[in-house]
Amino acid sequence: MMSIIKRNYSLKKHNTFNIDVKAKYFTIIQNEKQIFNLLQEDFLLKEKILILGSGSNILFTKNYNGIVVFNQIKGIKIIEEDEKCSTIKVGAGEKWHDFVLWSIKRNLSGIENLALIPGLVGASPIQNIGAYGMEVKNTIQKIHFINIKSKKKIIINDFDCKFKYRDSIFKNQLRDKVIITNVIFKLYKKPINNIKYGEISNELQRIKKDPSPKSIAQAVINIRNKKIPNPKKIGNSGSFFKNPIVSQNKFMKLKNKFPDIVYYKNSTKKIKLAAGWLIEHAGLKGIRKGDAGVHKNQALVLVNHNNANGKEILSLARYIQKIIKTKYDINLETEVNII
Ligand code: FAD
Ligand code: EPU
Repeated sequence: MMSIIKRNYSLKKHNTFNIDVKAKYFTIIQNEKQIFNLLQEDFLLKEKILILGSGSNILFTKNYNGIVVFNQIKGIKIIEEDEKCSTIKVGAGEKWHDFVLWSIKRNLSGIENLALIPGLVGASPIQNIGAYGMEVKNTIQKIHFINIKSKKKIIINDFDCKFKYRDSIFKNQLRDKVIITNVIFKLYKKPINNIKYGEISNELQRIKKDPSPKSIAQAVINIRNKKIPNPKKIGNSGSFFKNPIVSQNKFMKLKNKFPDIVYYKNSTKKIKLAAGWLIEHAGLKGIRKGDAGVHKNQALVLVNHNNANGKEILSLARYIQKIIKTKYDINLETEVNII
């Protein structure tokens, strides 16, 4: 069946910043056939296309002068199984957290630390979602997508996705060029029990639970509920900026000047800095310009106190970037997709 195309459609309910912009056209797709049909429409040849999940990593700064395609392809299915792993095909329109709950119920391990991240499964590879010591790239095996221009279905392997910290091929070469329809995950039957993030072990002790996919997910949910503002209560998109990655040399200079600077060492020689710390120690935590603000408890999260528009949030973000550049000589990159 052909999908219904609405005109002049409000996106307020479709983005977690609650920005009230309109899409020239809006449609929902529930299967690949509907995508192929849609791509045959003549009028679409002239239009820009934006694929939308839950809008939890998007800042709309103006009306969208094209067609917004809301991905609602459903289904979670085990397609292969051996004694160690289950391979699972998940529709891009499934809610990420529902898939995490599904996996925990079956005692499968690999994504429990990513509990409660908003958004849909189809967006999870785009910025390689990560939290509390895990990244989704470690469980993705293949991705099915349709190339908008060639109208061809393509299956890509994980190693071709160029996954990095909050980055993938889908944020670069394939940006706005493809519609992800299904993601194939490999989850483990033996629990990984990744509790290297100190807060998780503290929380497990507090709730008196041994590590398991279920208890770790619960610990993560508890931590997140304390730390990250709920978009249902106050508009936000999670971390607005990426944590910057700097050279050893640059880090040493900063550490001399700011001995308390918060940082993470990873496998490379580079050092990741906590952008929240940089913003807080530049005196910007909790500031407000009209209804656009920096959250009072988590300086990396920008919030819409009520009626801010996208341009106002963006202007606050640019102001923060300018101050951080002046104070630390660091260019903060946005994590959120600015549209
Ligand atoms: P959207 O915001 O709708 O889209 C994001 C981008 O992906 C857009 O460019 C869009 O065009 C593209 N896209 C979406 N679906 C498809 C598709 N099927 N095919 C092609 N392109 C597509 N992220 C983390 O990594 N870790 C966290 O801990 C985390 N915590 C968060 C907490 C809060 C409170 C919020 C609001 C956000 C948080 N995020 C976090 C960011 C966000 O949840 C993730 O980036 C999520 O994957 C976005 O999913 P979405 O469906 O909302 O995508
Ligand atoms: N910090 C401050 N002040 C603040 C906020 C943080 O000093 O206002 C310092 C604290 O020392 C804290 C450290 O920064 O220990 C790190 O903070 P937190 O643990 O809250 O994590 P984060 O670096 O701010 C990252 C991700 C989150 C993810 C958490 C947990 C990025 C850009 N953000 O945040 O992801 O949930 O770690 O793993 O990598 C998202 O991407 O949207 C997101 C929420």
